[in-house]
This record gives sequence, C-alpha cells and structure tokens, in this order.
Amino acid sequence: MFKRILKFTLIGVGFLLLCIALFYAFVHFSVNDRLAQTYTVDPKPIAIPNDSAALALGHHLSLVQGCQDCHGKDLSGDIMVDDPAIGLISATNLTTGEGGIGAGYSDKDWLKAMRHGLSQEQTSLLIMPSTEYSKMSDHDLGALIAYCKQAPPVDNQLPQNELRPLARILINFNQMKILTAELIDHDYEAPEYITPSVSVDYGGYLATACAGCHGTNFKGLPGKEPGSPMASDLTQTGNLANWSENQFKGALRTGKTPEGIIMNSKLMPWEAFRHFSDDEIKALYLFFQTLE
Ligand code: HEC
Ligand code: HEC
Repeated sequence: MFKRILKFTLIGVGFLLLCIALFYAFVHFSVNDRLAQTYTVDPKPIAIPNDSAALALGHHLSLVQGCQDCHGKDLSGDIMVDDPAIGLISATNLTTGEGGIGAGYSDKDWLKAMRHGLSQEQTSLLIMPSTEYSKMSDHDLGALIAYCKQAPPVDNQLPQNELRPLARILINFNQMKILTAELIDHDYEAPEYITPSVSVDYGGYLATACAGCHGTNFKGLPGKEPGSPMASDLTQTGNLANWSENQFKGALRTGKTPEGIIMNSKLMPWEAFRHFSDDEIKALYLFFQTLE
C-alpha cells in the first residue's frame, strides 16, 4: 500500500516537473523568437547639422529626454539592470571610444535606433524609449543626433545583454513591455519642424515625452514593472487640476508635489525634466489644463 502511494506521488511530482520544464522551454523559445525578429524599415533621411546653435539645442534635448540618465553623463553607457532573476541589460556606449557604437554607426543607423527602436541588425532594442523619440520633429532629432555624434570618445566595454527566466516569463505575458520595436508605430511620419512657443500646441508636442508612462490620453497607467507606482492622471480629473503653474514647475524641478509626494526620479524622470526651460514648462502646463 505505502509503496503504491509513494509510486503515484513520484509519478505525480515527475509529471509536474515535466510540465514546468515544457512550459519554461516554450517561454524561453518564444521570447527568443521575439528578440531575433528583424524589422525592415527605411527611415527618411534627415539633415544632421553641425552649427553651434544646433549642438546647443541637441545638448538641451539630450538632457530633457534623459539620454544621460541611462547612457551616462558622458554617454559612454551604463549597466541598467543587473539582477539574478531578471538578467543584465546595459544602455549602450554611444561614443566613438572602444566598446562604443559611434565609430561604426551611420546616420541611417541613428535614425533606425531613434525612430524605430532597432539595432544595426534590425532587431528590437530593449528598454530604449524610442516610442517617444520617434515623435520628435526632423529638426529636433537632427540636432540631437548631431550632439551625440560629437560626444568625446570614451572607452567603455559593457557586458552582453542577457535575459534570465523571470524576465522572459514577464515578457512572454506582456507584464514587462521592454521590446521597443514592438511598441512603435513604424509608419508614423514625424513633423519636419515645430515652432517653439508658449502655446497649447507646443505643450502637446513636448508632452509626447510623458505619454509612454502616463498614457497617450494622459489618464495615467499602471507602473512599468510589477510593484512600481502608477503613473498619475495628468488631466483635469487628476491632482493637476488644483495646481498653479508654479506648483507644476516645482514638481518638475524638485520632484516634490504640492501634496507632499517625493517622486523617485528613476520612476518619474524629473531629474531630466528639470532641464525644461520656463517657457517649455508653461507650454506643458497650458496643454495639461486643456485635458478634460
Ligand atoms: C530609460 C533608459 C534610456 C534612455 C532614457 C535612453 N536610452 Fe538609449 N538605450 C537604452 C538601452 C537599455 C539601450 C540598449 C538596448 C539594447 O542593447 O537592446 C539603448 C540603446 C540606444 C541606441 C542603440 C545602440 C545600439 O546598440 O544600436 C541608441 C542610438 C541610443 N540608445 C540613443 C539614445 C539617445 C540619443 C537617448 C536620449 C534621447 C537615449 N538613448 C535615451 C536605454 C535608454
Ligand atoms: C518613465 C515613466 C514616466 C515618464 C516618462 C513621465 N512620468 Fe510623470 N510620473 C511617473 C510616475 C511613476 C509617477 C508617480 C510617481 C509617484 O507617485 O511617486 C508620475 C507622476 C507625475 C506627476 C505627479 C502627479 C500627481 O498627481 O502627483 C506629474 C506632475 C508628472 N508625473 C508629470 C510628468 C510630465 C509632465 C512628464 C513628461 C514631460 C512625465 N511626467 C513623464 C512616471 C513617468
């Protein structure tokens, strides 16, 4: 009797382990397929200027858009995720130094990365927020690329990316949306030029930098990773309805809201947004005030 129970228990446990192994093998290979998928795109060539006004604009945009937050102060890259369950993901060294992509990167490669979220091999980049950058005007993106291209060379060889089981399971069930190319509208045609002004329209253009987390209707979205706070409702049904322009400016410059919440700049990148000029913040404020 006892032997029979033991036998059935062992068969049961064995069967369960087999199911788990098969399930994980399925997840592993289906995520591999998505990582290996190549996209065919032919980005429209744009002018990459070289004058000092363009480089100054490019520098400003790189700060506001947070390139330095992920790719390092000197754009030489940085390890972003290093976790035994999730894996290892680094933000690329963008310079022409050793370990950097700069030297072997054509203008077309820059456009593929910025507008389509693709590597030189046409596969999806991880984490890189090209969803937002793809909406930048030709004029602004040209200035940004010009600035990145002239960054002084820094040698920094980063380790190969590696996705471990928990990341693969979360990616498989769309709980971790980090394959950038899957999230982009590859047919989007960015405007050539948007005139800066203190206006609702210009605020709307700047607010594309907020849509990735707060949603394209700015009504707020759940956190990007399990357990991270919800990206708040920025429309007039949220707290912003009661904020003055100065309070809004304070939140973007210091990370502290009038309600006393201290925002973590890793989750809400105010350390980048504090570089918005006063006029840019005014335009953003005007825009959010129009959202019912
Ligand atoms: C939230 C973090 C984050 C921000 C902000 C960010 N990047 Fe990235 N970026 C990454 C990561 C991570 C990768 C590497 C992706 C990979 O290897 O799959 C990457 C890759 C790239 C690549 C492609 C490199 C290659 O391997 O082909 C370029 C170009 C790039 N970033 C430029 C920029 C610029 C310019 C900005 C600012 C406008 C910026 N990034 C902002 C995280 C970020
Ligand atoms: C990488 C994701 C991310 C991006 C991009 C982002 N936010 Fe946020 N934002 C958050 C999260 C998460 C919170 C909630 C933070 C908290 O509660 O600690 C937040 C909160 C806020 C708040 C506080 C709102 C309240 O009701 O307390 C404001 C204001 C805000 N964001 C404005 C912006 C603006 C403006 C932009 C674009 C220029 C932007 N955010 C882009 C993630 C983001």
